[in-house]
Amino acid sequence: MTKKSKFTSKLGFVMAAAGSAVGLGNLWRFPYLAARHGGGTFLFIYVILAVTFGFTLMVTEIAIGRKTERSVLTAYGALNPSFKFLGPLGALIPMIITPYYCVIGGWITKYMCTYVSGHGLEAVSDDYFTQFITGWKEPLIFLIIYVGVNAVIVSAGVQKGIEKFSKILMPILIVLSVIIAVVGLTSKGSMSGLIYYLKPALHGDTAAMKATNLVQAIIAAAGQLFYSLSIAMGILITYGAYMDHKEPIEKSVRNIEVIDTLIAFIAGLIVVPSVFVFAGGAKAASTSGPSLMFVMLPKVFNTMHFGSLIGAAFFALVFLAALTSSMSLMETIVAVVEEVTPLRRPVSSLVSAAGIFLVGIPSMLGYGVWGDVKIFGMQFLDFFDFISNTIMMPILAFLTCVLIGYVTGPKIIKEEIERSETTFKSEKMYNVMVRFVAPVFLLAILGTSIIGLFQG
Ligand code: PHE
Repeated sequence: MTKKSKFTSKLGFVMAAAGSAVGLGNLWRFPYLAARHGGGTFLFIYVILAVTFGFTLMVTEIAIGRKTERSVLTAYGALNPSFKFLGPLGALIPMIITPYYCVIGGWITKYMCTYVSGHGLEAVSDDYFTQFITGWKEPLIFLIIYVGVNAVIVSAGVQKGIEKFSKILMPILIVLSVIIAVVGLTSKGSMSGLIYYLKPALHGDTAAMKATNLVQAIIAAAGQLFYSLSIAMGILITYGAYMDHKEPIEKSVRNIEVIDTLIAFIAGLIVVPSVFVFAGGAKAASTSGPSLMFVMLPKVFNTMHFGSLIGAAFFALVFLAALTSSMSLMETIVAVVEEVTPLRRPVSSLVSAAGIFLVGIPSMLGYGVWGDVKIFGMQFLDFFDFISNTIMMPILAFLTCVLIGYVTGPKIIKEEIERSETTFKSEKMYNVMVRFVAPVFLLAILGTSIIGLFQG
């Protein structure tokens, strides 16, 4: 195997991994979860879980990557041959997610162009989004553009592509998000929405109902963290393999968590108060995903001063968040391609991009021409999302905890961390987490999403 190229600095690694972590999950899922699960209560639970549960899973994958210097396909097997089967599972996940994530990336690109070119007002109408996704020409063009942008960055390599772009794009993303939040919060009535977002609440009339809701909030926060930190997608193993042995893992993970949580919190500041003012608390606690981003928010922006400008800034923000996530996914695929074929960049990137584009087509058409084709009652995009996020990822993360907690023992992680840091400061917490707490959370996440499926 050829020697892997590395990130040039801790900053480069942190920005790249934070870029991966900050994505659609932060922007269109976190705000509604917080609104739904008791505002401040949820925020508090989320932060506690980020520094314990999230920390553990992130450290584990980055250390596995750096220790083995392999792609996700062979990293697990290098630790223990009986766990080799986790490799294909781990490699399949980004191959399922990237295509449909790029389809959504295309939608975002379209909205960004609409707003930036001064046509934001058109997006306010109820059927603007439906008309767009049910056609095929425009979604196809924007899918090609979006995959193309990713391919250009990834084909430039780890240092000149991923690292360089993350170091430029992430600061822009952070500044944009702060500006939008500040402008949004100065609009009329937003104080009541802000209080709704921040005030700790625990819903339920009886003690038993309150307890149930608390447990639900904890599992929702754990599930969100798991997705938001880009766990179990092969990404952190890939990026870990590009991390220099001199750079500190523990400190880097702390930095990434701060950035990811901060952007999620700011996204909440942008979304929850404005939706609250526009449509009330119930809507803020129930609207997420595409219907929030492409249908609700254009209407909300329309009622604000400088709404078109806010909209343009917002969709630029969403674009950057999605781009830095999808390029980490594409890099994970390219790393696998380079390991199993003699192809080197930029050919490996081109081949991967072509594959991503082709597999993305059913997800793209599923909302339009192929609207009648259903897998287990779901459209392609929703099915791919379900099978990866709900089933494969929790299983992979659970088995990774079993591998580290019980088969190799957590000491291999400690040793890897102590190659660059004098002591693994959170060792005791880590050991308990990886062996006992994290596996239980992961099973709970898996269980609740399966139950959720049957309840519709
Ligand atoms: N952490 C990302 C998010 O919050 C999840 C993700 C990463 C999704 C990479 C796709 C690609 O959106």
